Amino acid sequence: MTGLRRLSPGDGHDVYDMLQTIPKNENGLINNANGLSYDEFKIWLTKKQQESEQTGLVDGWKVPSTTYWLYVDGVPVGFGNLRSFLTDALKKAGGNIGYGISPEHRGKGYGNLILKLLLQKAREAGIEKALLTVHADNAASIAVALANGGVITERNDERVWIWIDTRPKD
Ligand SMILES: CC(C)(COP(=O)(O)OP(=O)(O)OC[C@H]1O[C@@H](n2cnc3c(N)ncnc32)[C@H](O)[C@@H]1OP(=O)(O)O)[C@@H](O)C(=O)NCCC(=O)NCCS
Repeated sequence: MTGLRRLSPGDGHDVYDMLQTIPKNENGLINNANGLSYDEFKIWLTKKQQESEQTGLVDGWKVPSTTYWLYVDGVPVGFGNLRSFLTDALKKAGGNIGYGISPEHRGKGYGNLILKLLLQKAREAGIEKALLTVHADNAASIAVALANGGVITERNDERVWIWIDTRPKD
């Protein structure tokens, strides 16, 4: 199977192992599963699923986010997060979408693929314009966003703000 699979408490060792290869914080992408034991990971999956099903803010401040695994030929190679709405804080940093590919699978087009598939999910969730905030020195992620129709609307020394229209092109 090649495509996105939504996080579920039934996820197992293949996803756990993939998540251990992606740093805890790389270019602002947070991977809270890195460093967990397998048992802790299973608890984390349940919590993440519960949070993603909330419609309002989680714990009064956190926008619910839905996590997807990118599978290529049956192997999980990365993950993406989709937030269905933005707060003022997320407009400054965070945006709607974040993604990461396991280091051993980078440079094969999977970054481009995961964002393309996440944009389809965003559209299905009613997001017509998705915001990505990318570290200014993250050339790979900026390339991924631009390859997927991203438009840079603002930049400073630290960050680049990129909006992507998720509506189908004719
Ligand atoms: C950003 C990331 C997802 C890219 O994944 P990837 O699978 O290597 O990306 P791809 O192979 O699809 O390459 C996408 C584009 O980036 C370019 N690219 C890849 N690595 C690059 C690098 N180190 N420097 C410059 N450009 C790079 C490729 O040439 C390609 O451009 P093209 O489509 O114009 O040919 C991956 O590097 C990653 O997980 N980084 C850590 C987490 C992160 O930064 N996430 C983004 C947070 S906003």
